[in-house]
Amino acid sequence: METKVDHFADRSKSWDMNSKRVQNAKGIAELIVNNIKLNKSMEIMDFGAGTGLLSYFVAPYVEKIVAVDNSPSMLLEFQNKCGQFSCNTEVIEKDLSTDTLDRKFDGIISSMTIHHLEDIPALFSKFYHMLDDHGFIAIADLDSEDGTFHSDNTGVFHYGFDREMLARHAMEAGFRDVNFIFANKISKPHAEFTVFLMTAIK
Ligand SMILES: C[S@@+](CC[C@H](N)C(=O)[O-])C[C@H]1O[C@@H](n2cnc3c(N)ncnc32)[C@H](O)[C@@H]1O
Repeated sequence: METKVDHFADRSKSWDMNSKRVQNAKGIAELIVNNIKLNKSMEIMDFGAGTGLLSYFVAPYVEKIVAVDNSPSMLLEFQNKCGQFSCNTEVIEKDLSTDTLDRKFDGIISSMTIHHLEDIPALFSKFYHMLDDHGFIAIADLDSEDGTFHSDNTGVFHYGFDREMLARHAMEAGFRDVNFIFANKISKPHAEFTVFLMTAIK
């Protein structure tokens, strides 16, 4: 049997201590709230929720957030603090590169996660089938970069994304009204990296 590796095991406990990371998630959440009509009856999935940075800031605007992630250590951190979230929460340990989830959501949010999945067309197709009619996706990740954003690229399948290609994958999965918004600029000593928010509707 294949052993599952938790790529975030050594980073989960200190994940929230990086203030740039927290600010990035907060900014993405604000963009989501300002660009998607959320309401207190919605159940949404946070894909690659990790410790819940994005979920925390979106929580006041929805009824429930289902955190889906394949890292037990990150989900443990999520669970330890979800009592402070302003909505109901549920945690599901699942690898969406190999598994699917037989659930339907009003929307799917995600931050800084999809570069960890090799097959984006397959992921978008799964997202499409996990949404109710007119459901939304709101996905933030890096624009194309030179491979130097992460100090260690283990588990990184994409050095950011070309927006046109990502839009094409979304439309081929069935999504409409694909839109990109600039979300953030992350400055590192050697370079600057930009983050987009892609939104689309089923
Ligand atoms: C860079 S972290 C981002 C965490 C969080 N969204 C944030 O903004 O702080 C990426 C997260 O995606 C999760 N992840 C990576 N590949 C995954 C997969 N195939 N299925 C589910 N979760 C995955 C990781 O375990 C990790 O928690």
